[in-house]
Amino acid sequence: MIGQGSIVRAENLRKIYRRGAEDVVAVDNVSFEVAPGEFLAIVGPSGAGKSTLLQLIGVMDNPTSGKMSIAGSEVSGLSDAARTRLRRETIGFVFQHFGLLPTLTVAENIGLPLLLSRERSRDRVEFLLERVGLAHRRNHRPAELSGGEMQRVAIARALVNQPRFLLADEPTGNLDSVNSAAILRLFQELRQDGLTIIAVTHNEEFARSADRRLTLRDGKVVS
Ligand SMILES: Nc1ncnc2c1ncn2[C@@H]1O[C@H](COP(=O)(O)OP(=O)(O)OP(=O)(O)O)[C@@H](O)[C@H]1O
Ligand SMILES: [Mg+2]
Repeated sequence: MIGQGSIVRAENLRKIYRRGAEDVVAVDNVSFEVAPGEFLAIVGPSGAGKSTLLQLIGVMDNPTSGKMSIAGSEVSGLSDAARTRLRRETIGFVFQHFGLLPTLTVAENIGLPLLLSRERSRDRVEFLLERVGLAHRRNHRPAELSGGEMQRVAIARALVNQPRFLLADEPTGNLDSVNSAAILRLFQELRQDGLTIIAVTHNEEFARSADRRLTLRDGKVVS
């Protein structure tokens, strides 16, 4: 039974990549839902389809078939403009390779998405600098930060537009164990604040801290 209150609802999603004469079924008939406030870990071996599934959830790519609904809207029925707006206003993205702009300071990187929105408040940047523990680094550039600090900046930037949920692909994939633990703690704190989180991870400790895990193998949900 699929609830109506879900933030994310995937029904029979399939994604087939055509590679020359060969078809690769990257996501194969995947259904699941994520309730508000839930922390879902997506796990599975390399090539299982985790990143592909995350791209479908993040409205960065279209499924070959199946239905994807975000906050009650079916994505396939939306115009390109509406999809872009949905991505910008509803979803926060965090990746393994932080994606910070090297010439901007920490505070400027966090505030970058505000340039595209109607939001004018700088208070939000200040709030997030405190939230991720980087107020003292506000005027530093990314090259002057540790990997864990860079990822905290990326997380703050992902949250600046107050998304309905956070999508993360291997957020600790480039970090040592100490920095990974700090990022894991931050995710737990954000979850306690009520944030909905969907994260692909190879980190067992990270996966254990989630409410639930979706295990993929060869594009299929195996548990
Ligand atoms: N753009 C693409 N074109 C063709 N095939 C692709 C493309 N992207 C991914 N694939 C294939 O789809 C399958 C799933 O890839 P995906 O990147 O989703 O796996 P993953 O679970 O994220 O792996 P990893 O843990 O290594 O990041 C793989 O067989 C991959 O080779
Ligand atoms: Mg991947």
